[in-house]
Order: sequence, then C-alpha cells, then structure tokens
Amino acid sequence: MELRPPIVIASGIGGMGEYLKLIDPKCIGAYTLKTITFKPRHGNPPPRLIATQNYLINSIGLENVGVKKFIEELRGQVYDELFRKVKVIFSFAGENFEEYLLVAEKMVPYQDRFAAFECNFSCPNVQFNPLSNPTELKRMLLELRKRLNVFLIAKIGIEGGFVEDVAKLAEDCGWNGVTLINTIRALHVDGERIIAGGVSGPVLKPIALRAVYEVRKRTSLFIIASGGIMNEEDAQQFFKVGASAISIGTALYKNPKIVEKIAKMFY
Ligand SMILES: Cc1cc2nc3c(=O)[nH]c(=O)nc-3n(C[C@H](O)[C@H](O)[C@H](O)COP(=O)(O)O)c2cc1C
Repeated sequence: MELRPPIVIASGIGGMGEYLKLIDPKCIGAYTLKTITFKPRHGNPPPRLIATQNYLINSIGLENVGVKKFIEELRGQVYDELFRKVKVIFSFAGENFEEYLLVAEKMVPYQDRFAAFECNFSCPNVQFNPLSNPTELKRMLLELRKRLNVFLIAKIGIEGGFVEDVAKLAEDCGWNGVTLINTIRALHVDGERIIAGGVSGPVLKPIALRAVYEVRKRTSLFIIASGGIMNEEDAQQFFKVGASAISIGTALYKNPKIVEKIAKMFY
C-alpha cells in the first residue's frame, strides 16, 4: 500500500470523515473510519472521555450504526466526497469471531472502494478479546483472508500475547499489515468516580515504539504505528524503529492542525 504522505488518521478519532473538514486532505495518506460492527452498538454510558496532560481515557465502547446501515450509507453516497478526497480504510470488529466473518462477507461487494480493511482485534472497551485465543484467531485470520481480496491489516495491541507473535501469525496467514497498537485497558480514579476505559496519548508512546520495533524484527509487514504520536519528533522515532506509516489519534484533540505540521516532513 502506498500512502503519500505516510500518515493515517486513527480509527475512532476522526469519526466517519468529519475531521476532513478541518484540514487539507493532501496531508493525509489514508483516513481510517470508526470501527463498524455486525450489530449496531450504542456504546457505553457517560462519562466517556477523561483528558489529562499525558493521557486520554475513553470508554466509547465501539458506538456505531452497524454494518447493514453503514452499507446503506455507502450506497446512499454519504461517503462519496470522502472517497474523492482521500484513501479510506474500513475498520471492523465483532462481538465474537463469527461476527467478524459476517461483517467481512457483507462488505465483499464494496471492498474495491477501500485502500485497506483494518480488522480491529484489540478494542479494550468490549468484553471479547480475540487475541487471547490463538487457535481461534488463526482460524479467523485464514477465513478472513480467504473471503477478502483487499489489503488486510490486523490492528493488535499488547493484551493477549507478544505482539510480534500475533503479527507473525497474521503474516503467515497472508495478511499484509498490522496497526500497532490500540488503546490499553486502564482506570481513572477521581474522588468517588472510577472510570474504566482505554488509555491513549503520550503514555502509550514507549509501549508502541517497542511493539513496532519487535514486529519489524520478526516480519516484513506494512506497519502502521499508533500510540502517542504527538509531534514530528515522535513520528521520526517510529519511522526509525521500522514503521511504514504513522497514525495520528489523540493528538488531533489537542491540535487538529498537527497533521499538517507533521506532513511537512514529507514535502
Ligand atoms: C475516543 C477514541 C475512540 C477510538 N475508537 C477506536 C475505534 O473505533 N477503533 C479502533 O480500532 N481504535 C479506536 N481508538 C484507538 C485509536 O485508533 C488509536 O489506536 C489509539 O488511540 C492510540 O493512538 P493515539 O495515542 O495516537 O490516540 C479510539 C481512540 C480514542 C481516543
């Protein structure tokens, strides 16, 4: 996959294309949509976002319209302007292994419109963790590869075995890339309030750097680095340890224009 510049908008933070209104599309190599699941999900009750200087905790819980409605929107030209302006990555997940296959099957007729499909195996805000069952995960990787004829990316985190083992498994099953990492399960305690969610932002950077470094040593996969990339220096560090592209997420909340700044590294 060729991304120019090698900068991706992280799944979830840019919603379903809304962020494009704020910046020059030329600064983005690809735009990842929010994860779509088989059934619609209302997500978790508030509070859903806790922001501090060094981290953000979110407990959005994969709120989305579900694949049936998403396809209606696709056919209804809701995303046509987005497709005209940027490469788009479709992100999907399931509440169990079978639902991953069901989403993939429904999306087969539309796969050519996307630069890649990113399979979210690592959402910390749902009860199902596909990475904790390597046997079933392997079956799923093979089944999804069989059904889809698109650039396939596994989004994996650090909860459920060493990332390099999971990434190698994905490569052996014919997958093209990995996004490393996702948010990690975390807790915010504020007086009497206890908020569970996934942590993102600067605290993730050293963990994501290690993940990219280890996966680059073991595989020749396309690696999209995700986790705490806030500025040009962070971006450079990820490329140095083997990233093929970088993903910008939490940084967009602090400064929507950061993508344009980082993109200047490539012009
Ligand atoms: C509010 C919010 C929503 C997110 N939603 C998704 C999602 O739907 N699918 C997904 O794969 N990752 C999701 N993520 C994870 C991001 O895509 C990204 O991998 C993570 O935040 C780490 O990168 P960052 O530190 O640059 O934000 C979400 C993150 C945040 C903060």
